[in-house]
Amino acid sequence: MKVGIDLIHFATADYYLGLDTFAAEKHIDVEKFTIGIGQEKMSIAPPDEDVVSLAAKAAAPILRQIDTNEISAVLFATETGVDQSKSAGVFLHGLLGLPNRCRVVEFKHACYAGAAALQMATTMIRANSKEKVLVIAADIAKYDVDTSGEATQGCGAVAMLITESPRIIAIEAGSGYYTDDVMDFWRPNNRTTALVDGKYSTKVYLNSLKHAWEHFTEQTNRTFNDIDYFCYHIPFTKMAEKAHKTLIKKTGADVTQDQFEAQTLASQIYNRIVGNSYSASLFVSFISLLDNNRQSVEGKRISFFSYGSGCVAEFFTGIMQSGYEKVLMTQEHQRKIAQRKPLSYQEYLDFYKQADSVIENIVYPLTNKGPYRLAGIKDHKRYYEKTNQLD
Ligand code: CAA
Repeated sequence: MKVGIDLIHFATADYYLGLDTFAAEKHIDVEKFTIGIGQEKMSIAPPDEDVVSLAAKAAAPILRQIDTNEISAVLFATETGVDQSKSAGVFLHGLLGLPNRCRVVEFKHACYAGAAALQMATTMIRANSKEKVLVIAADIAKYDVDTSGEATQGCGAVAMLITESPRIIAIEAGSGYYTDDVMDFWRPNNRTTALVDGKYSTKVYLNSLKHAWEHFTEQTNRTFNDIDYFCYHIPFTKMAEKAHKTLIKKTGADVTQDQFEAQTLASQIYNRIVGNSYSASLFVSFISLLDNNRQSVEGKRISFFSYGSGCVAEFFTGIMQSGYEKVLMTQEHQRKIAQRKPLSYQEYLDFYKQADSVIENIVYPLTNKGPYRLAGIKDHKRYYEKTNQLD
C-alpha cells in the first residue's frame, strides 16, 4: 500500500523583517546574513498571530478540497505550543469546525516533531487504510534580542493531508534515526524565547546527520546516488549547505557543483525569505523544491532530514507520484510570501514585546491580516476568531 502526502499547503505571517534592516540597526555587515548564514528575511508574527492561527491558515485550503468528516486525526507538531495541557490541535479543531469523531494530539521535540507526526500518520494509515490524518507542523522561532540567534527567527505552518494512494509523495518504509541527550537548544517552561549554544548546535546537527544516515543505509540499503533531491531541516540556508557537504564527504559521493546545486538549491528558496519555522522548516523546504524546481520531479526519490535540537534526528525518503503538479498550491504560496509587509526594526520590537503568553486578560487589536486570528485572552483562556479576510 502506498501511503504519504496527498495535499500540502504552507502559510506564514503577514509581516517580515529584512536582514538588511536588521544589519543596519545592529551595525553589522549585511553579508554576514545574506552570505554567512544565507538568509534575507524573517517572517514576523504580530501579537494576534500564534501557531493556531498560522495552522488554520495553512490547513483551510486543504480542508476546502475534501470532506472534513473523513479526517480521523489531527497531529499537531510544535515547539511553540500555546498551552501546557491543551493541545494546540484542539484549538485548531474548534476554529476549523472539524468533526468530533477525530483524535487530536500535540507532538513535541523541538524541530523534529513534524517528522515524528508524519511518520506516526503513515503508520496509522498502514494499520487502517480508511484513516485520513491532518498533520500540522507550526512554529514561531523566537530568540532573545541582541543574541546570535536573533537573526535566525521566522515563523510558518505546514498542513499535510496524509492518506493511502497519495497524490504528491509516497513515504517509503525504512528510516534512520538518532537520539542523544545534549543541551544545544532548549526552552525552559517559564520562557517564551529559546536558549541556544549556537555553534555547538550546528556541530550536533551535522553529527546527528551522519549517525541517522548510517542507520538509514543499514535499514534500506539505499545509497547517496539513489536519491535525486535532498530536503534538510533549515534553521538558516547555510546549514543545509553544510549538511549536504557533510553527507557527500561521509558517503564519498562524486558530486559536481552543478549537481550539488540541482540537488539542494530549489529547496532553500522559501526558507531563505521566511526564516526558521522549527518543526515546519523541513516541510517548507520540501514545498520550496516542489514549487521552484525547474524540472518536474515526478518519479524522483526525495530525502528528508529532520533535526530537533536536544537532540532527535531522522533521515527518510519518499517517491514523487505522477501528476503531483496538478494538486500543488504554488500560486497561493508565492502570493502569501510576496504580500507580506516589511517592518522597521522598532515595529518588529513592538510586536516582539507584545506577544507574551503569560498575559491573563487582553483584547488584541486587529494586526493579523489573515483569515484567522487570536482575538484575545480572558481569564487565561484563549479566544480565536475567523476574520473576513480571504486566505
Ligand atoms: N560576510 C560573509 N560571511 C560572514 C561575514 C561577512 N561579513 N561575517 C561572518 N560571516 C560568516 C562566518 O564566517 C560564519 O560562517 P561559517 O559558519 O561558515 O563559519 C557565518 O557567517 C556565521 O558567522 P558567526 O559564526 O560569527 O555567527 P554567529 O556567532 O552570529 O552565530 C549562529 C551563527 C550560530 C547560526 C547563530 O545565528 C545561532 O545561534 N542561531 C540559532 C541556532 C541555530 O539555528 N542552530 C542551527 C543548528 S540547531 C537546529 O537546526 C535546530 C533549530 O532549528 C534551532
